[in-house]
Amino acid sequence: MHSISFFLSRMAFNSTFLKDTVMKDQLEKLQELALSELAVVAGEEELQALKVRFLGKKGELTAIMKGIGSLTAEERPVIGQVVNSVRDRIEAAFEERSIYLKDTLRKERLRSEKIDVTLPGRRSPIGTKHPVTLVIEEISDIFAGLGFLVAEGPEIELDYYNFEALNFPKDHPARDMQDTFFVQDNLLLRTHTSPVQIRTMLKQKPPLRIIAPGTVYRCDYDATHSPMFHQIEGLMVDKGVTFGDLKGILTIFTNQMFGSDIGVRLRPSFFPFTEPSAEVDIACVICRGKGCRVCKNSGWLEILGAGMVDPEVFKHVDYDSEEISGFAFGMGIERVAMLKYGINDMRLLFENDVRFLSQF
Ligand code: DAH
Repeated sequence: MHSISFFLSRMAFNSTFLKDTVMKDQLEKLQELALSELAVVAGEEELQALKVRFLGKKGELTAIMKGIGSLTAEERPVIGQVVNSVRDRIEAAFEERSIYLKDTLRKERLRSEKIDVTLPGRRSPIGTKHPVTLVIEEISDIFAGLGFLVAEGPEIELDYYNFEALNFPKDHPARDMQDTFFVQDNLLLRTHTSPVQIRTMLKQKPPLRIIAPGTVYRCDYDATHSPMFHQIEGLMVDKGVTFGDLKGILTIFTNQMFGSDIGVRLRPSFFPFTEPSAEVDIACVICRGKGCRVCKNSGWLEILGAGMVDPEVFKHVDYDSEEISGFAFGMGIERVAMLKYGINDMRLLFENDVRFLSQF
């Protein structure tokens, strides 16, 4: 028979005995649970969540460790060792699973991903040339074949070169046709490429053959006029140059540009810097001369102005008009581009819409 005090002391003994056993038990169960859950984790995210749950600061291992405080001094190191070994075991298992997952995911990707190595690479789109540029190049090529060199001049021009030296005196009514953007009293945005004639003749002695493509400006804006547009100027000066040479050169140009069946017609006109002067028409490139909406049923299209260089102009550049003669012409490039590509509104050329521009 045992006395009640025996039982009481036994119970007291058991209660501490139970505490560390219970903790050890809990730790082993935790390890078992962690390992079994880890074995079925399928992704990196899930793995991290599990790590927080078991090993995190507020995780299950920490929760069990809170019980260590109520253990006896002898029991603590024993349980401490168990805690360490359980933590090490779980950590190692996490590491293992992480490596395994990375490896299988990679293998899986390699198996399912099909790369066609024969496909061409992705190219960044390269632009196309603007129709105005294309026409300038084509016209320049044709005239290069006829011995004409390309000359250039400034877009901000002196009144002298744009008007005065071309025989447009101040207050001459011919100036009114060229709605001019003035920068200052004697400085303006060139209204045509004709001042390049003057600049070139001042620099060179005859004979000369030049074309001068470039940007010009006039205060005008609708479906067939833009305040900024392009012209190409032509000038040939030599001994014995005639009106027949002018017509011949313009016919060769027209035939090469628009086709050998497209004829040329000259009508008398007036420009201050040429005498005689002509408006030059070409047979309509749309109806080939039969008459249509574009040529207003006339069968002809006006594309340029031309004439024999006026002796007054030669005076300004110190050329002797008894010795030499020359012809000049000036053409609107947008108009040629519109005819060539069937563009019905000039504004399309300057709106920078790639759906339009990429067609050329
Ligand atoms: N510069 C003239 C204009 O823009 C066009 C022109 C006409 C140029 C006759 C010429 C020419 O060289 O001879 O209206």
